[in-house]
Amino acid sequence: MSQIIVTYWSGTGNTEAMANAIGKGIEAAGGEAKVVSMEDISPADLKTSGAFALGCPAMGAEELEDTIVEPFVNEVEKFAAGKRIALFGSYDWGDGEWMRTWASRMKDAGAAIVGDEGLICNNEPGDEDNAACENLGKLLISV
Ligand SMILES: Cc1cc2nc3c(=O)[nH]c(=O)nc-3n(C[C@H](O)[C@H](O)[C@H](O)COP(=O)(O)O)c2cc1C
Repeated sequence: MSQIIVTYWSGTGNTEAMANAIGKGIEAAGGEAKVVSMEDISPADLKTSGAFALGCPAMGAEELEDTIVEPFVNEVEKFAAGKRIALFGSYDWGDGEWMRTWASRMKDAGAAIVGDEGLICNNEPGDEDNAACENLGKLLISV
C-alpha cells in the first residue's frame, strides 16, 4: 500500500483536526498516511497518486481560501481526471455551499469524490465528526 497524502489549509485548527482524524482512519485500515499542510507540499507531489485528500474550511463568502488553496486546487484540476479525491473542511454559519461547489468543480475535472460528496464539519470536530473523518480515511484506501 503506497502512502496516502492528506493535505489541508486551516486557519484555526478545525480542518487540521479533521485531517488528522482522516490520517488516523487510513492508518487504522492498514495504510500509511502523510498528513501535511498545503503550505508544505506542492500540487506536483500529488500527480502520481491515485487517491488523496484535500481539506479547506469555508472562507470568503462560501469560497476556498484564496492565497494558498485556490491556486493549489487550480493546479490539481489539471491532473484530477481519474483520481479518487476526498474533500473535507470545517465551516461555521453557512450550509456547506463552499463544499458543494468544490466537489462539483472536482467532478467536472474528472475526479471521483470519495464518499460522493465532501465531508463537512461545523466548527471543531466532535466525536461523530471524528468518526466520519476516520471512515473517510478508510474509504480512501479501499478501492
Ligand atoms: C475570513 C473567514 C471567512 C469565513 N467564511 C465562511 C463562510 O462563508 N461560511 C461559513 O460557513 N463559515 C465561514 N467561516 C468560518 C470558518 O469556516 C470556520 O470558523 C471554520 O471552523 C474554520 O476552520 P479552520 O479552523 O480549519 O480554519 C469563515 C471564517 C473566516 C475567518
